[in-house]
Amino acid sequence: MHGGEAMVNRVALPVGLIELESRRLRLRQWRAADRAPFAALNADPAVMAHFPAPLTRQASDAMLARCAELIVMRGWGFWALERKADGAFIGLAGLHVPDARLPCAPCVEIGWRLAAAYWGQGYATEAAGAALAVAFDRLGLDEVVSFTTLTNTRSQAVMQRLGMRPAGCFAHPALAEDSPLRTLCLYRLSRTRWQDTHNQKE
Ligand SMILES: CC(C)(COP(=O)(O)OP(=O)(O)OC[C@H]1O[C@@H](n2cnc3c(N)ncnc32)[C@H](O)[C@@H]1OP(=O)(O)O)[C@@H](O)C(=O)NCCC(=O)NCCS
Repeated sequence: MHGGEAMVNRVALPVGLIELESRRLRLRQWRAADRAPFAALNADPAVMAHFPAPLTRQASDAMLARCAELIVMRGWGFWALERKADGAFIGLAGLHVPDARLPCAPCVEIGWRLAAAYWGQGYATEAAGAALAVAFDRLGLDEVVSFTTLTNTRSQAVMQRLGMRPAGCFAHPALAEDSPLRTLCLYRLSRTRWQDTHNQKE
């Protein structure tokens, strides 16, 4: 990856820094003030139930810094998620290039992680819809994927609401063979399907 240029699906796409808005939310570059609320949600066992472990403050800060760095490099990434009505930091959502060893690689994934107080209000689906518009309309991707553990039914429900289709399971190469989190279900969304779904809603 080079500054201002994204290598996606083998196509070089020059992009500047992208920040976006949906009806109730802002997807923006990270700020120092996000560090404390991001660490709080990453330390919450309920939020991290489908990950190997909650994150320490140090690991959370490092993740935030990496997300910010990738947004600078590519113009897009896992953005900080802010509620427009009151400026509250509620989590992260956006696009990411996952581990190159995954069977779906090279690919761009869509993901989300919200503080538990903000679940059940449609924010993840709304933010992801805005990120998909960036993926397909601005970055010109042919496909976006998402994956999660078999037990993470809330996350799978977001994928289904977005019109993503189940595409089988795979074992995460970074996790131990006896890890209950190792088997992940994959969902895919093509640009054609997204455009069809999107046009029907308009
Ligand atoms: C995965 C996660 C983002 C899903 O959150 P969520 O709140 O279930 O999903 P949404 O924000 O899309 O909200 C949908 C819910 O809000 C409800 N809702 C309420 N008001 C709404 C509105 N105005 N518009 C849309 N939906 C609304 C929907 O009916 C739905 O409720 P249901 O779950 O009872 O069916 C959240 O559980 C999370 O952050 N988990 C921890 C991190 C994680 O696992 N991330 C994924 C790793 S792969």
